[in-house]
Amino acid sequence: MKEAQVDARILELFRSGDGFVSGEALSRLLGVSRTAVWKHVKGLRASGYRIEAVPAKGYRLLSSPQLLNRLDISAGLAARRIGTTLICLKQTESTNAVAFKLAEEGAAEGTVVIADAQSAGKGRLGRVWLSPAGVNLYCSVVLRPPISPVAACQLTFLSVVAVARAIEKCSALAPQIKWPNDILISGKKVAGLLNEMNAETEKVNFVVLGIGVNLNMRLAQLGEGVLRHPATSLLEEGGVEVDRAAFARTLLTELDQLYDRFLVEGEGAVRAEWLVKVDLGNRQFSGQVQGVDPSGALLVLREDGTLETVLSGDVALI
Ligand code: BTN
Repeated sequence: MKEAQVDARILELFRSGDGFVSGEALSRLLGVSRTAVWKHVKGLRASGYRIEAVPAKGYRLLSSPQLLNRLDISAGLAARRIGTTLICLKQTESTNAVAFKLAEEGAAEGTVVIADAQSAGKGRLGRVWLSPAGVNLYCSVVLRPPISPVAACQLTFLSVVAVARAIEKCSALAPQIKWPNDILISGKKVAGLLNEMNAETEKVNFVVLGIGVNLNMRLAQLGEGVLRHPATSLLEEGGVEVDRAAFARTLLTELDQLYDRFLVEGEGAVRAEWLVKVDLGNRQFSGQVQGVDPSGALLVLREDGTLETVLSGDVALI
């Protein structure tokens, strides 16, 4: 195991138990000496992890560094593709811009760029995405799906479902999808997607999935009038601070699983098991997702057999 892998495994072991982990257990599980365990603990402390050491009990992780970092996110990340290359930046203009450039230079599928803060976060339709440091998640994923540009809008469905699932897993809140690109909680926007593509007529070269999730941002930090919907954060809605690294890990894992299915089953992955409730304002219905048409509309088959085309609307996963 490489040094960084040992660090990641130590953090994973700390998190999997609910108390102390003895130096002896760590040394056995990692296959390294107890002196080496101690050296790794010292190294982690120097990186900002607060680790308590109590004789006859062992070690216990008290807190992780404030800044989102690669080690923290990758510890316990069981993804096949997404996040196998993970780049964590303290600050950048836009993770989408960084990921797009890396993809142009040949970055592998699954490369993920995460930043603690963005100085020029991009929203859709030329809007600004507020990106203060230390509170939210700003993340861009490079994909190279072997599909035509027309089929690429299927990926929007995968991204919104992955974000919704990550919110459900990391909080007690019930996210709602505002098809096609927004995630709301109690009618207020908590996350947005900005997917950018480089393609030829017949073939996608790469897609950058850009995902911004307001995790621990306070309302006071939310700008007026910058966003289309009234905005919120998971902390504002749930009253509980979200562990940003754990959220990032959960999101990447969900996305990885959905994308894997998409590669194996194609459009079928965006079908079948997805039962949704749709609210178009003037009427509501439920049904089964059939896919995304080339215009980006969600196709929903109602129980009475009618096929509905949802260009934009509130969609809740059942
Ligand atoms: C929107 O709802 O308008 C889309 C917002 C997308 C924001 C994310 S944050 C990470 C990635 N980098 C960017 O510059 N934008 C996306």
